Amino acid sequence: MDHHLECIGCRARYPSIETAYACKSCGDLLEVSYDYDDLRESVNASLWKSRPLSVWRYEELLPLDKGSVKVSLGEGGTTLHRAARVGKLLGLNDLYVKNEGENPTGSFKDRGMTLGVSKAVEIGAKKVACASTGNTSASLAAYAAKAGLESIVVIPHGKIALGKLAQAIAHGARVLQIEGNFDDALKAVLRLAQSNTSLYLLNSVNPYRIEGQKTLAYEIWDQLERKVPDTVIVPVGNAGNISAIWKGFQDLSQLGLISHLPRMIGVQAQGASPITEAFRRGQCRIRPVQNPETIATAIRIGSPASWKKALRAVKGSGGLMETVTDEEILDAQKFLARLEGIFVEPASGSSIAGLKKLVEAGAIGKDENVVCVTTGHGLKDPEIVQRMFEKPITVKADQRSLEIALGLNR
Ligand code: F0G
Repeated sequence: MDHHLECIGCRARYPSIETAYACKSCGDLLEVSYDYDDLRESVNASLWKSRPLSVWRYEELLPLDKGSVKVSLGEGGTTLHRAARVGKLLGLNDLYVKNEGENPTGSFKDRGMTLGVSKAVEIGAKKVACASTGNTSASLAAYAAKAGLESIVVIPHGKIALGKLAQAIAHGARVLQIEGNFDDALKAVLRLAQSNTSLYLLNSVNPYRIEGQKTLAYEIWDQLERKVPDTVIVPVGNAGNISAIWKGFQDLSQLGLISHLPRMIGVQAQGASPITEAFRRGQCRIRPVQNPETIATAIRIGSPASWKKALRAVKGSGGLMETVTDEEILDAQKFLARLEGIFVEPASGSSIAGLKKLVEAGAIGKDENVVCVTTGHGLKDPEIVQRMFEKPITVKADQRSLEIALGLNR
C-alpha cells in the first residue's frame, strides 16, 4: 500500500521500506503518512460492515503490501461494554469500557504486533526484538512464533508481572533480564537494533506498530454505530497507544467519515508521570523521571519514547493529562471487576481511576459519552490481587464450619 514515513518534527520524508526508528536529521520519531486523496478512493467504509470486527477489517488503512502475509492470531474485535453500574457509581449516564484484555495475548499490543510482525516478514527480517514492561514481550513472542521468527525480549529484572513473563517464555522468546528499568532496556535494545540491522525492532518507536494500534479508534467508532465519543480515556506509559488512537480518529476525519474529533485524556501513575507534569506546566518538553515507581508495572516508565506524539494528541484534541495514585488504581481495578465483571491489570485500572477523579473534579460531565480503554487482562498480574485484595478463608470441609465462616449459623 502506498505510503511513506515522515518525521514528526522536521517533516523529513523517508521511503516506506526504511527500518530506521528515528529521523536521521533531527532524531524525532517517524510516523506513517498517506495521500488521503488516494485513500478516499480505495476506502469503502460500508464494505467494512461485511467483515468481522477486527484489526484487519480496516486493511485498506493498514500499510502492508498487497499479497504480503498477514500474521494474525485473531486480534481486535474486543467488546465495547456498556458500563452502566460503574456509570451509576460515578454519576455518568453514557459510559463504555473498551476491553483490550480480550485480545489473543491479553492486551492491546496484539493490534500493533499483527501489523509489525507482518511487516517484519514482508521485509525479510528473521529476528524481531523489543524492550518491555511485559505485554509487548508477550505479544511479540506469540506473533513471532506464529510467523516462525526468532524473538528477543529485554525486560527489567524482577519488575514485570508473572503472567507476562510466562507468556514470553512459553512462546520461546530469548528473554534477557537487565539490571535497570524499562527506560534502560529500551535504550539498550534501540542501540542493539541500530547496530545489528538483522534485528527488527518492534517497540512503539516503530511506526508500523502504531498503525496497527490505531484500529482501536476505528472499532470504537464502529461499535458506537459510527458515532464519535465525546471523550476517550487511556492509560499512558511509553505513550504509543494514546498517539495511535488519536491517529486513528484523525484518519477517519481525513477520510471525511467523521465530522469532529473526541477529546483525548491520558492517565499516568503518579510515580511515573512526566507527560502529565509537562502538560500541567504548559511546557512542550518532558523532564524524564529518573526512578519511576508504581504498582502498575506496565506503565512504570520515566522517559516515554512517544511523549511528543502524546502531547500533540492531548493538546490537539482539547484533552488533558491526569495522574492517579496506586491506591486509586487498585480501588478502580476492584470496583470495575466487582461491578462490571471486567478483570483488568492495574495499569488498565488507571484509566478508570482517572475517570473517577475527573468526574469528581467536574472535568467530565454526567451526560458525556465516555469510552475508557482498559488495556490488559487481570490474569497477567495475579500476584497483585493475592497481595492487595482480601485473603481467602481456610476452613474445615464440613457443613458447620462453612456455615460459621459464612455467618449462616445465626
Ligand atoms: N496498559 C498496559 C496493560 C500496558 O502494557 C501498557 C504498555 C500501557 C497501558 C501503556 O501503553 O506504552 O502505549 O502508553 N506497556 C508496554 C510494554 C510499555 O512493554 O508492554 P503505552
